[in-house]
Order: sequence, then C-alpha cells, then structure tokens
Amino acid sequence: MQEKVLILDFGGQYNQLIARRVRENNVYCELKPSHTSLAEIRAFDPIGIIFTGGPNSVYDESAPKVDPGVYALGVPILGICYGCQLMAQQLGGEVCAAQSDAAREYGRTATDFDGACRLFGGLGGQSVTWMSHGDYIARLPEGFSACARSAACPTAAICDESRGFYGVQFHPEVNHTEHGAALLKNFLYDVCGARGEWSMEGYKDRAVASLREKIGDGRVLLALSGGVDSSVCAALLAEAVGSRLTCVFVDHGLLRRNEGDEVEAAFAKWDVDFRRVDAGERFLARLAGVTEPEEKRRRIGAEFIRVFEEESKKLGAVDYLAQGTIYPDVIESGKGDAAVIKSHHNVGGLPDFVDFKEIVEPLRSLFKDEVRALGRALGLPEYLVRRQPFPGPGLAIRVLGEVTAEKLKILREADFIFRRELEAAGLDREISQYFAVLTDARTVGVMGDGRTYDRVVALRAVTTDDFMTADWARVPYEVLARASSRIVNEVSGVNRVVYDVTAKPPGTVEWE
Ligand code: XMP
Repeated sequence: MQEKVLILDFGGQYNQLIARRVRENNVYCELKPSHTSLAEIRAFDPIGIIFTGGPNSVYDESAPKVDPGVYALGVPILGICYGCQLMAQQLGGEVCAAQSDAAREYGRTATDFDGACRLFGGLGGQSVTWMSHGDYIARLPEGFSACARSAACPTAAICDESRGFYGVQFHPEVNHTEHGAALLKNFLYDVCGARGEWSMEGYKDRAVASLREKIGDGRVLLALSGGVDSSVCAALLAEAVGSRLTCVFVDHGLLRRNEGDEVEAAFAKWDVDFRRVDAGERFLARLAGVTEPEEKRRRIGAEFIRVFEEESKKLGAVDYLAQGTIYPDVIESGKGDAAVIKSHHNVGGLPDFVDFKEIVEPLRSLFKDEVRALGRALGLPEYLVRRQPFPGPGLAIRVLGEVTAEKLKILREADFIFRRELEAAGLDREISQYFAVLTDARTVGVMGDGRTYDRVVALRAVTTDDFMTADWARVPYEVLARASSRIVNEVSGVNRVVYDVTAKPPGTVEWE
C-alpha cells in the first residue's frame, strides 16, 4: 500500500500549496473537502491528516467542521490556523475572537519554538512565522500544551504528543515562514512515520503498468496541443501502449517559430500513430477580416474542433479518449468552479463527437511541477517540459487586429529574438511568461538616411504564481536594449519596440 496523507480543505487560500509541500517531501497526499465522511477517511487509510486554514471563525454557526470520529482513528493530525482552532475547539478547548488589535496577528511574526516538541525538532528556538489570524485559543483542550509562542499569542502552536495531535496558528506552507518546510517534514517523517516513497520515477512505472493493464489491446486518441500537460500525457501513453496511441496534433499555423517541428520531433522516439494536421491556411481563412479578440477566439475554437472531428472520423471508433487534466483542475472543479477553467481550456467539447467508451486522465493526481518531473522521467526534451503557458488561440491573440500571414511572420521573428535574449541572460527560470506582441500601430522612424513608417512591437514579461494576478518583470535594461536593437535591425517591418509595464490587474497577461 502506498503511504498517503489526507488534507482536509477548510477553504484557505494556501491549500494547494500545503499539498505541494507534502508531495515535495516525497509523500503522496490528496486534498478532500472538510465534510468528507468518516467512512471515506477511513477507507483512504492515511498515515497522517492535515486540516487546512480557512476564512471562517470556528464559533460561527456555519463554520465547517470535521466528523469528530477523526480524532479516534489513531492517526496523527496537524491543524493549520483555522484547522488548529477547530481541533482545539472540538477536543474541548476554547477559541475566542481577539479582543484587542494587539492580539490579532498578520504577517511575519517572531515566534519561539519549543525544541523538545517533535514538530520543532532541529529547527532552533527562535524563528519567524507567517501569521494571519484574528481568533486565538484561550483554553487548551485536555492533554495539550503550548509549544510555540509569539509576543501576542501564547498558543502559537499546541500539541498533544501522546496522540500525535499538533496545531499551528501560523502557515508553515508559505515561504515567509522560516523553516516551514522543515516543520512539515518533521510532521510527516517523525510524527507520521513516512518513508518518503512518492517519486516521479515510481509514479511513472506504476502509471505505465496500470495504463497497460487498463487499455490492453484498445486504442487511445489524444489531442496534442504541444503544451506541457498534453505532451506529458501523450508521452506517458506512448510509453505504455505505443502504436495503439493516436496523437492528433492540429497545427493551426498560430504557433511560435519552430514549435510545430519541435513537438513532432519530441515524439519521434516512440512508435505512436502521430498525425500532424497542417491546417494553417484554413485557420487564416477563418480569421480573415476579424479584429475582435473574442471573435478570434471563437472562430479558432470552432475550427479546431472541426479539424479534430474530421481527423477522428478518419480514425473511426476508439476505446479511450485521453485528456491531460491535472490535479489543480480537479480540485478547482470540485469547488463547482469548472466554468472558469473551461473558458481557458484549449479543447473543450471534444467528447461530443468522438466515438469512444471511456476517458483516461493519467495526470489527474499530479501538480504542474510533478507533471514536468514526469516528463523528464519519460525523456521528453527540456524545451517541452519547461515550456511556458501558451494560449490555445496562439499568436492570433498576440497579433492585434486582423491576423495575416505577413503579420504572423513578423511576430514570430520578434518573439523568437526576445525569448532567446531572455534565455541567454538566464532569466527564463524566474520569469513566468514572456513574449512579443505585434501592435496594430505604425510609427515614424529613421533608418540610415531614410524615413521609415513601420510597425511597433511590444514586449511582455510577467512574474506570477497562478496567472490570476501578475506583475511585470523587472527585466534589466541591458537585456531589453539588446532585444530591442536586434528586433529593429533584424526584423523587417518593425521600427519601434516598447516594453509593457502593466501589472495584472488592471492589465491581463495577453493583450487580447
Ligand atoms: P490573461 O491574458 O487572461 O492570461 O491574463 C492568463 C493566462 O492564460 C493564458 N491565456 C489563455 N490560455 N486560451 C488558453 O489556453 C486562451 O484563450 C487564453 N487566454 C489567455 C495566458 O497566456 C496566461 O498564461
């Protein structure tokens, strides 16, 4: 049996981060809603349970609770923030709202750890933690003692070591908490007795074996976009079932320079039925005269489905349709937020016309970082595994106004230069997404002795954790200078380069 940790979700904003931190410690975990039944918790058979933070106060009437039977399972529990207060309350302690501002804590807070407690073993006595709470534990439940304190809070952490119950007011999962990762490691290894069996090599072997068993002699169809998720999904299936996998790669002609060839080359080592459909002309025809961004998106989405439908009809019935759904999508859909995800999904609606029996989603339990690690374990090239997000409608939403072959060519060259310059400066790891945009503006310039009246290229580079909010990247001037002068000199039709210094919000990452 694989060792696993259960994370019960009380709605805190860092919950996915907790799960990632646990997995980074080589322990498999899953995030489930706080109302998960005791029977399901028991069946999951965790070696430890973590209660997350959440926006409520435990004494609110509508505050989410956990089945108190969880405390009798003999499984260690770590409560974080709300989770800590809930455990204290349910086990007979008392939680109160801070009466004075001094008792509320937000942000970095000096905290003293009790080194004798297993949770804090080896972490040193004095530390800094990230606090965000207005309630505090006024009376400890029986059997508990305080094992960390801050100036405002004598119960910054509590424990009942005999039962393996721990609670922290602060957030060990965020980077602002010094030693947060080590604290979680202590809980997993010293308290729960984890052995650290979760690795991508191991996952790969298990996934390949189980896909072989499931698919048997069946046939699988996958729409390959060239993005990280669909590429890794394809590679995993290629490894498992080889030629019984058909990858349909619709090249809509809106990809970046060399991208289509790179994707095709990456799969050459497997014996898969790889079908690249060069549909660039069709897409351009559909986009002729269209300038409105959402209309571009709609037409590209519709054409994509039409091309895929034609290809899949040639193939006839298949047994499985594979999708590169990853764990954050699963978690988000569980919250009833599926609509938000769909609008950014590249290939929504496919199953409607493909004749298949079942969907396979072999990446369903993996976080993005793990998907990349799995891609590496499968031998996919680094340029595919580390690929930054790329919108489904491709360069069509980075060519402002009407999309033409000529404008696409200019954008591809400018974008290629900017990306190469950032990579040469070693900035690609710290910048989340970077690309060029071809504006619809023309400006006057001077080149040699002559006047020019050419296009303006905008450069965009952003840093972000989740793409919901983002900041513009502080790219060093000399890198921008090099990119700008190369673009103006090497790309004909461009005589001006600007850099976008707008955060999201109010801007979005893409210009359209
Ligand atoms: P925005 O522009 O909304 O972008 O700030 C956030 C992230 O989503 C990507 N993006 C898209 N991805 N289809 C996609 O698959 C789309 O239509 C689309 N629009 C934006 C964008 O590149 C960024 O990573």
